[in-house]
Amino acid sequence: MTLHSNEVGLQTARTLIEGGSKVTIEQPTVRVVPVREEDIPALIRLAREIWFEHYPAIITIEQIEYMLGQRYTPQIIAEQLDSERAWWDKLLVDGNFVAFTSYELGKTLDTMKLDKLYVHARMRGRGYGSLLIRHVESKALERGCTRLELQVNKHNRGAIEMYQRYGFTIARAAVFDIGGGFVMDDYVLSKGVRDRG
Ligand SMILES: CC(C)(COP(=O)(O)OP(=O)(O)OC[C@H]1O[C@@H](n2cnc3c(N)ncnc32)[C@H](O)[C@@H]1OP(=O)(O)O)[C@@H](O)C(=O)NCCC(=O)NCCS
Repeated sequence: MTLHSNEVGLQTARTLIEGGSKVTIEQPTVRVVPVREEDIPALIRLAREIWFEHYPAIITIEQIEYMLGQRYTPQIIAEQLDSERAWWDKLLVDGNFVAFTSYELGKTLDTMKLDKLYVHARMRGRGYGSLLIRHVESKALERGCTRLELQVNKHNRGAIEMYQRYGFTIARAAVFDIGGGFVMDDYVLSKGVRDRG
């Protein structure tokens, strides 16, 4: 497998002994690569699928549509891809686009904001979310940031547990008015990041 310098790759094989003979199980090839402009339609489809599967338990359908419209239009994503302060990366499993993250420079020089982290429901629990968190941590360090910050809905319990497992702590609760009569009722979580050496 050839990897470009900005890719994270993971391919492992497990060898089991079954009935006295060796069986090698190929694990999938997992790559994290930058989102390109031509990926935007697939990215929006994946985001909509995940949002409509995950968020109805947390916010209204009207709010989901409103927030998707604020965050996932071709124009907004293309502008961010062109910017020098926000990045989108996709996670491919055997070439299939199953997860993505985006991150941007924070309000202070030392902080990177982990803005989006989404794994398709059928691909959860396989370490892809944590792989993306570690990926964003290394991108933060590359850009001289020593803190990661994120917002998560107060009722998004699974995601909060996952972030806490990876060292994030709740810095504060905050209600953000996002217009259209909607608010985001969030926790702000943060974590110090340092080189693993
Ligand atoms: C949150 C999310 C990204 C996690 O992705 P994932 O690929 O399932 O996560 P991983 O398999 O890497 O799991 C990482 C760890 O978090 C834990 N974890 C993951 N989801 C969890 C959940 N719902 N509840 C409790 N713990 C959870 C796992 O047990 C694992 O711990 P371990 O490393 O000790 O085994 C994924 O569930 C998702 O896309 N959720 C819907 C969208 C969302 O809420 N995104 C966050 C927006 S702020």
